[in-house]
Amino acid sequence: MERVDRRTGDNLYPTELEVSFGDVELSLDVPAGVWNPTPHGLHLGNVLMTMDFSDERVLELGTGCGLHAIVLARRGARELLLTEIDQPTLDNAKHNLDKNGVTADVEYLVADWVHVDSEPFDTLVANPPFGKSGKRYRRYFIDSLILESHRLVRPGGRLVFVQSSMADIPRTIATLEENGMTVRVVAETDGPFRDYYFEDATYMKEMASIPGAYQIRDGVHYEQLIVLESTLPG
Ligand SMILES: C[S@@+](CC[C@H](N)C(=O)[O-])C[C@H]1O[C@@H](n2cnc3c(N)ncnc32)[C@H](O)[C@@H]1O
Repeated sequence: MERVDRRTGDNLYPTELEVSFGDVELSLDVPAGVWNPTPHGLHLGNVLMTMDFSDERVLELGTGCGLHAIVLARRGARELLLTEIDQPTLDNAKHNLDKNGVTADVEYLVADWVHVDSEPFDTLVANPPFGKSGKRYRRYFIDSLILESHRLVRPGGRLVFVQSSMADIPRTIATLEENGMTVRVVAETDGPFRDYYFEDATYMKEMASIPGAYQIRDGVHYEQLIVLESTLPG
């Protein structure tokens, strides 16, 4: 498989990755057409590694190459439902889960984001599309995740996801609280813009109007990345 380190374009180029989350090392194959893990997903992986999912049924929307599912299984999840937009991406996730020795009970489902018909889960995990959401309303995947979590997650269960300051963190926290959830910022970090942000003039213009979307230090644009754990009312 081709080895490349490229941060431009559609982020769907093929690569092979060795990733460490805590003391767990993952070996991932990502073929062309599957989302390459970015700092957002890596941050979420690091945080999931510090959390306990013992004996839980966990739903991950948009699993991509499956990196978070591997961590969830290592952290005790008993049952996983992993969704994606198409079957080849799910096949890649299964390849990576098998390659990394996941033995939990895993179901793979092609589903359009929150359109999942199942008993409510203990926890819902996601790295929602935003910069490349393809939607005029860029927050579509974040807001629908929040609005539908009452159907997808059991009372007292959790919604855990990562987002950038570019997606307006105060707005997300307010929306979660308006929906009755208790919100905890589990971990935050920051990092330089992905090169492809600058290739999308509309995105850059939109971001300029979001308070606190980014900082410029020494001429470099930085976004903040946070993982939120929201608990549904019991
Ligand atoms: C930001 S990527 C995250 C992928 C992976 N979880 C990670 O962190 O590397 C978002 C994922 O959502 C998937 N996706 C996009 N639209 C979707 C939809 N309508 N339904 C389900 N998944 C979707 C994409 O294929 C992509 O893998």
